[in-house]
Amino acid sequence: MPRVFKPVDISKEEKELRKDYFDRHTPHVICESEVKRGDKFKVKVVIGDEYSHPDDHDHYISTIQLWNRETLIATASFSSGMLANQKSHFEVDFYIIPSVSMNLTAMAVCTNHGLWQSDSVEVKVVD
Ligand SMILES: [Fe+2]
Repeated sequence: MPRVFKPVDISKEEKELRKDYFDRHTPHVICESEVKRGDKFKVKVVIGDEYSHPDDHDHYISTIQLWNRETLIATASFSSGMLANQKSHFEVDFYIIPSVSMNLTAMAVCTNHGLWQSDSVEVKVVD
């Protein structure tokens, strides 16, 4: 079973190296907290906040997944070089038409540093 890295409050980390390591791998789910049933809405997933991740041939973010509770609902795959081999924030937009309220979580895979989980985001669906 792989280790899953959970989000860390980097303001509590003292070492710059650890802040960088945790922040640059952590996915963030960005979307509306309330959406209308049947309307398509955007769910953005961005990796990192203050620190960006490498895009090297042997070290890059290969996968971003979006989960609704325990159900995988979308996956994006990347090849190295997509970000011109520059440090940046990997990101993807997913478009969802919700039928019921959701609890969304993103997972990201770094080819060198494993599996990283976002905080969960509640999305209320209203009529
Ligand atoms: Fe990494």
